Amino acid sequence: MITNETTSTTTDPSELVDERLVRWYFLAACTFLGVSMLGGLLMAFQLVHWNPLNGIELLAPGRWRMVHTNAVAYGFLANAFLGALHWAVPRLTLHQVASRALSYFIFFAWQAIVLLTAAGIIFGPSLQTSQWVAAAASKYHLAMSLGAQGLEWGETPFWIDPVALLGLALVAYNFMVPIARAKPPLYVTMWYFMAAFVWTFLTYAMGNLMPEYHVAGTSAGAVGGLFIHDLVGLFVTPLGWGLMYYFVPIMLKKPIWSHGLSLVGFWGLAFFYPLNGIHHFLYTPIPMFLQYGAVIATVAVELVVTTVIVNFFGTLWGNGRAVVTNLPVRWFYTGMIFYFLTCLQCAMQVTLTFQKLIHFTDWVVGHAHLVMFGVFSMWLFGIMTYLFPRLLGRNWYSHALLEWHYWLSALGVLVMATDLILAGLFQGYFWASLQPWDVSLVGSYPFWVTRVFAGLAMFLGFLCFVYNLWMTYRGVRSPAAEATPASATWLG
Ligand code: HEM
Repeated sequence: MITNETTSTTTDPSELVDERLVRWYFLAACTFLGVSMLGGLLMAFQLVHWNPLNGIELLAPGRWRMVHTNAVAYGFLANAFLGALHWAVPRLTLHQVASRALSYFIFFAWQAIVLLTAAGIIFGPSLQTSQWVAAAASKYHLAMSLGAQGLEWGETPFWIDPVALLGLALVAYNFMVPIARAKPPLYVTMWYFMAAFVWTFLTYAMGNLMPEYHVAGTSAGAVGGLFIHDLVGLFVTPLGWGLMYYFVPIMLKKPIWSHGLSLVGFWGLAFFYPLNGIHHFLYTPIPMFLQYGAVIATVAVELVVTTVIVNFFGTLWGNGRAVVTNLPVRWFYTGMIFYFLTCLQCAMQVTLTFQKLIHFTDWVVGHAHLVMFGVFSMWLFGIMTYLFPRLLGRNWYSHALLEWHYWLSALGVLVMATDLILAGLFQGYFWASLQPWDVSLVGSYPFWVTRVFAGLAMFLGFLCFVYNLWMTYRGVRSPAAEATPASATWLG
């Protein structure tokens, strides 16, 4: 082991990585995912009139729909990414993060931000009990500040925005220091991570501050579209791709198929993704040349994503059986297939011809679940399945439960996405036929019932994972696990 006090250089992974913190991040991620899924289920039940909690204002599905999306983005994805970053960055750079104390501060501050965001949404200004506060606040023109902002994905109350931005700046600093100390040339994973730190900060600032204070009307819509798209493209995507470029070669024990192609993906993402935003607002008063530009840039992004998928399948070439024998690899490559399906779906969705039919329908919600759950959550489940035994120092309690988690999640999201995509087509045709609105609601009902069961399957899969984790943490060994040979490569 080489250790240098001043630069904290060490090749001993146990000193490089704060495993307790990685564990905490993953546990926080799982907690928020559970909350988010319950919020999604509540909304899904409401849409088929099966909401058992009807009439309780604090559990109003309208509020919990926002908690659902915010808890997924900032509670689940951000926490899981931060945990994985704390594992991967020190190992790749051979340097610890800038400050472990700062890492812990960020951990607690981030949980507070996510919880306050949820509180802002749930106890928003329309709540009866907060009326006197709202009245007092409106006197000082602060009415909106008490609750959620009226911007999709930017619902975070305005008083939390500066704190969230400070948190993002500290995250960037904490990881940029080891990256700056690493010996060049930097592996492509680092390129993605560095870009993500800068882009996420800028995206969050743009989306949460500009429409609120500086632009209005159609321009605010254009900025809002850019914001929601960049959250996926410039925060989730570079971190997800960066982590796959790190974990896939490790799991398959071979280098990535083409380093050149991985750079095409990086520069393609950087150049084309920010031009996509207005595709969320086709057929609006936004100038048509911008709408056409967004459509063309979207097609370009689909080609860029295809290069990334090709690169990962090139890497798998010759090791195909790993998809069967190695569960994390199976999670990763199932995510790749869903990625390809998302691109196919998007290729149609982005055309103006198709938009005439599916705009504002459940097709879009199907698309959102396909990419957020089918791709990025699958990758994160694969990473957690691989890392938890290492973080807890024990083998998984039950391989069968891990398989249940995989199959219920994969089939659940496949059914949910297919169902909502079809629902969207039907809704589009109902609306185009100019029948009364209610007719489209009656037509949507069977699809929404199917969504409830698909969601329940995904939630059940998640519960299998949580139960398995709990038993693993307690050190219980299932009889089936006892029978597994020590040499099994099942978890890489
Ligand atoms: C228990 C499983 C789930 C159920 C039942 C569910 C249900 C729902 C429902 C009912 C909506 C609102 C749709 C509408 O407004 O018409 C929604 C939106 C959304 N959900 Fe889920 N969801 C689940 C899991 C997830 C997960 C795990 C993710 C991400 C990892 C996710 C991501 C999203 C996104 C991004 C939206 C916004 C879609 C849009 O506005 O187009 N959902 N979900």
